[in-house]
Order: sequence, then C-alpha cells, then structure tokens
Amino acid sequence: MTTNLSVQSELEPAQLLQWYVECGVDECISDQEINWFEKKSEAPLKQQVSVNSPKPRPQTPTAPLASNRELIEEAKQMAAGCDSLSALNAAILEFDGCSLKKTASNTVFCDGNPDSDIMLIGEAPGADEDRIGKPFVGQAGKLLDRMFATINMNREQDFYITNVLPWRPPGNRKPTDQECDLCLPFLKRHIELFNPKMIVLIGGTSATAILNTKTGITKLRGKWYDYALGEQKIPLMPIFHPAYLLRQPQCKKQAWHDLLTIKERLES
Ligand code: URA
Repeated sequence: MTTNLSVQSELEPAQLLQWYVECGVDECISDQEINWFEKKSEAPLKQQVSVNSPKPRPQTPTAPLASNRELIEEAKQMAAGCDSLSALNAAILEFDGCSLKKTASNTVFCDGNPDSDIMLIGEAPGADEDRIGKPFVGQAGKLLDRMFATINMNREQDFYITNVLPWRPPGNRKPTDQECDLCLPFLKRHIELFNPKMIVLIGGTSATAILNTKTGITKLRGKWYDYALGEQKIPLMPIFHPAYLLRQPQCKKQAWHDLLTIKERLES
C-alpha cells in the first residue's frame, strides 16, 4: 500500500508504522512499497511483487497433497490392521494425515478401565488434556467424574473413556466435520476392540459423529439408540457434555435424569 507522501513525511517512523497497522496493513509482502493505483502492469500480482522481492528458489518436486477421502481410506486401513488397543494407539501415533496433530502437544488415546463394560466418548482434548495426555482431566472432566460418582461409578473401575479426536483443535475450537470424518475409522475400530456393553456419547460432537446425524444434542440426549457392531446391538445414549453444563447449569436436571436412566439400564 502506498501512503500519501505528505502524510508520511509528517510522521515519525514509529507513528507511521502505527498508522499502517491501524489501516490494517500489518504484513510485509515486499521490501519496497508499490503504488498499486499507479502501476499499469498487466502482470499477475505475484510477479509484480517479485520485482522487488528476492528471486524465488527453484521448486523441488513434492508429492501432491492427499485428499481427505484418500486420508480417510489410509486411516481405515491402518485401523483395520490393529488387533489390540495398544496397536491402535500406536497406529494413531503413526498417522500423519490429520493436521491437528501438528499443533497438539500430545496424542490423547484413553483413560479409565479397559476391562470395564462402558465406553464414554467425548469430543476432543482441551488444553489440560493436551498437556497431560489423558482425556477429561480438566474442569469438564472433573464435573464428568462427579456426575458419574452420583450413580456410584468411577473411571478407575467402572468405565473407559476416549474422544472422537485424539488431538486438540487449536484454541479449543469445535472440530470440523472433515477432522471428525478423518478420525472416525480409528474411533470405530476403538469401539470394536473395546467391545463395550454400553456406549455413552458425551456432547453433540460425538453424538453427531457416531449417530451420523445433524440433530442437536438437546433432541438426542436421554434416549436409547443401538450401535451396530457385527451381529450385536450395543445400547447407546447421548448425554450433555459437562463443559456445556458448566455454562448452562440449569440443564443439570436433565443430565441427572439421563444418568439415572443409564444406571437403571445397567442394573436391569
Ligand atoms: N472435552 C472433551 O470432549 N474431551 C476431553 O478429553 C476434554 C474435554
């Protein structure tokens, strides 16, 4: 961007920079300014910039980027080749197809009792989970533990817990559909290998991913669904995510109702 010269000459360099930033010019694309209004060149923008920029280095041929579909296929094959939970954990650690892995500090696989009957599935690690490497260890996780404690269940003995995504989305943003689709083959194999007697989906993201629906968690929660695993039909219930309950405490009443329904089914 070219500045009116009279404005430039009246300003100190620091003030000038500040003025640029306030105008939204916060990135340097060339060593010298270009007056785009005067320049009549027909050359594409990139070439015009490169007039004043260092010569680009010769391009080394690189493999074309794989499409999401190809990456999903790769994930499916890797997941299918795993015959134990530890092999699946190793396969996820090896899988480089999901860009979330690059920004995450840890791959978060599971917590709880792998010999229990119940599998809880959350959304994705948050900051604490990413730092520690285990699911549901932050504020929401503490509330989840308290919720299950009210029906006399704890994660050391009574349930096993994982997430749709093993990597934290930056800034705790909601995972995209593409990210969920990419990690779903690993989660489905996780369910097969764990072979639960009951599945509890924690929050809208896991309900959407596993039930393959756009219906929101408010409508889905508290009802029983079947998860087809070979010949088996595994009872499954979506419940509110504890992070949502921290923001919307008035929904705890419904969450309590859902927990009692789960407990009743386990005892029947
Ligand atoms: N929220 C989730 O869904 N999973 C975690 O592991 C932590 C917070």
